[in-house]
Amino acid sequence: VKSIAVLTSGGDSQGMNAAVRAVVRSALYHGLEVYGVQRGYQGLLNNDLRQMDLRSVGDIIQRGGTILQTARCKEFLTPEGQQKGAEVLRERGIDGLVVIGGDGSYQGANKLSKLGIKTMGLPGTIDNDIPFTDYTIGFDTAVSIVVDAINKLRDTMTSHERSSIVEVMGRHCGDIALYAGLASGAETIIVPEVPYDLDMVANRMKENFASGKRHSIIVVAEGAGTGEEIGHGIMTRCGMEPRVTVLGHIQRGGSPTHNDRILASQLGDFAVRKLMEGDSGKACGIINNELVVTDIDRVVNTKKPFNMELYNLALRLSQ
Ligand code: F6P
Repeated sequence: VKSIAVLTSGGDSQGMNAAVRAVVRSALYHGLEVYGVQRGYQGLLNNDLRQMDLRSVGDIIQRGGTILQTARCKEFLTPEGQQKGAEVLRERGIDGLVVIGGDGSYQGANKLSKLGIKTMGLPGTIDNDIPFTDYTIGFDTAVSIVVDAINKLRDTMTSHERSSIVEVMGRHCGDIALYAGLASGAETIIVPEVPYDLDMVANRMKENFASGKRHSIIVVAEGAGTGEEIGHGIMTRCGMEPRVTVLGHIQRGGSPTHNDRILASQLGDFAVRKLMEGDSGKACGIINNELVVTDIDRVVNTKKPFNMELYNLALRLSQ
């Protein structure tokens, strides 16, 4: 491998810049040429690549978003689009590609790898829904944003003896809700991985209220339903009117935590080293603090297991 490219794709996440920086600087350190692809796979199809040097990634480790920008590209879902993408890279003499993104981005990397391009995936998403890695880049920051919001909500809920429903992102994965809920002492955590019973939630709120716990926080993962739906369901069951907060894209912005910056730095450097060793069609991750690679084909065809132990712990502690 003499020349590689890097792109960010799908929904952005905090720490993507730190990952781009690590890929570029590690590649240059090892004497490779490195190109940044603008706007994900869309930019690849538009031949929108620029050569990166040490200064192209200066002053970005602390910045949210992605300097390479990102897009969700329909054309790249077609075999013709994928063929075109592979040709653009070949024509430029680029033999390796690092793709930073979530599930959809990995599918694209998988296709390119089958067309002979050496690819490495890095898990860049706030959702933490990628299997074969304990954490994805951006998850830690998103969770800390949710925890901060819940702390603020709890202040005013306590003053007014009210309940609050906080709807968080995560697509089909409940990890943001679970980790933020546990870390903020939420009374109820609703996630798509565990069936829930609104009668039970409403009864519990009523009992808590009667026994002196006069405020509560319910965290809802968007994959399990909307905050509005749950709030309405609770009101019709027990007459209480929880206030609903939808945190939305706030969860995807801001400066990454040190955990996300370090994870991104480790994985970015690891991806470059793996490409240099001749590895391809792999996704990089961290399991029990060890950097690992897994066949990307396996990653895109596996559902991430839900951490029931942590969920049960949150249940036990939230009485
Ligand atoms: O995958 C990241 C994510 O933020 C999800 O949590 C959310 O469901 C989705 O992207 C939102 O997508 P968009 O930014 O296109 O509205």
